[in-house]
Amino acid sequence: MTATTRAERLDLLRAADYNLFRLPSDKVTLDFLTDSGTGAMSSEQWSGVMRGDESYAGSPSFARFRSAVTNLFDYKHILPTHQGRAAEKILFSVLGGPKKIIPNNTHFDTTRAHVEESGAEAVDLAKSYPTEDHHPFKGNMDIDSLRTLLEQHSSRIPCIFMTVTNNSAGGQPVSLRNLRETSELAREYNIPLFLDACRFAENAWFIKQREAGMSNRDISSIVREMASLCDGMTMSAKKDGMVNIGGWLALNDDALAAACSEKLILTEGFLTYGGLSGRDFEAMAVGLTEVIQESYLEYRVKSTAFFGQRLIDCGVPIVEPIGGHAIYIDAARMLPDMPKEEFPGHAIACALYVEGGLRACEIGTLMFGEAAVHELVRMAIPRRMYTQSHIEYAVEVCQRVAELAKQGKLSGFRMVKEPASLRHFSCELTPI
Ligand code: F0G
Repeated sequence: MTATTRAERLDLLRAADYNLFRLPSDKVTLDFLTDSGTGAMSSEQWSGVMRGDESYAGSPSFARFRSAVTNLFDYKHILPTHQGRAAEKILFSVLGGPKKIIPNNTHFDTTRAHVEESGAEAVDLAKSYPTEDHHPFKGNMDIDSLRTLLEQHSSRIPCIFMTVTNNSAGGQPVSLRNLRETSELAREYNIPLFLDACRFAENAWFIKQREAGMSNRDISSIVREMASLCDGMTMSAKKDGMVNIGGWLALNDDALAAACSEKLILTEGFLTYGGLSGRDFEAMAVGLTEVIQESYLEYRVKSTAFFGQRLIDCGVPIVEPIGGHAIYIDAARMLPDMPKEEFPGHAIACALYVEGGLRACEIGTLMFGEAAVHELVRMAIPRRMYTQSHIEYAVEVCQRVAELAKQGKLSGFRMVKEPASLRHFSCELTPI
């Protein structure tokens, strides 16, 4: 943990052109930028790393990884990739293209960017709820909107996506029932349904806790049912794979798998390593057994809820119900008078850094432009990293920032340099 002064942090932020991705992480006290690849690996995972087999082709480490994946997601073809967006890039470069439409409950930023880069249109179909509403499955696909889209444009839709949990919409889960209904519709139109499965175990935990008739089921059986309702998946193992790097694309269709395999070899590597080393497969194989343990999931979701509940108690507005991997502060409610063109979420995120060295991530107009539904600030919680006292400190900083917001002491931002795609990663800003 690094101690910096407020004055130092102001200088650092200015030197980073007010883009938090540009801060050196050793100048961040608590890092809530992402839960992706930032967790701690277990001793069992590190033991696995020591026995990684680094053969170019046919490594037994790949075989162990493959069987850990198919134990939960029983798809025919498992194509390893270095992370989630590599799987997206391969799939959409085969299935996407001009005039195509890809529906999703809500696309994550990289998913949307890959769909759009292929020339296709990315359509978000999750219902939008006020952030304070307590629907148990706010991540769900809006089935009526999906049906209407299919009735009008089914020939232009090469696949349907379902993101679990729904990261861009506040980390909210999708119910098994909603996945079943989506699957029935997809099958009626003979269109493959894919899971963007990054946080599949947290989603399964919420199904077990919140969905009628699910409380006695094993997490693994819920995950298997989620998988069986779909025809494939993209996965960033940096989340519920419990590793620092890794991912995969899985599918059943032989012709599609053949086309994707060609791209895999071209861009990632041979079919049994795909941009990873043998030791990474061992870590993922163990991670996939650890992430479905109920004791782990209970700890994960309860510790996130502790953070969120403390913020609610201090009057900081957040997305409710509290999700699994992150707390999402509602910047629009915190800065009701700041126009979205001035990036209220980013104003809060910068203040969290200046006031207490916390790093968070805007998920709103800065990230999504016109497509943004809410102005959120995500505080993602790395897996197996922070203790209750770290969280207590983070709550104090959030409370201080909320007071500054109330006193009208936070300024908005203007973008001074804007890259063409995924602008939030590398844009430059200046306070207004
Ligand atoms: N899909 C979802 C829902 C994601 O949250 C992410 C990554 C990806 C796909 C892409 O995976 O990073 O391995 O290429 N989300 C991270 C985040 C970066 O901070 O939420 P990747």
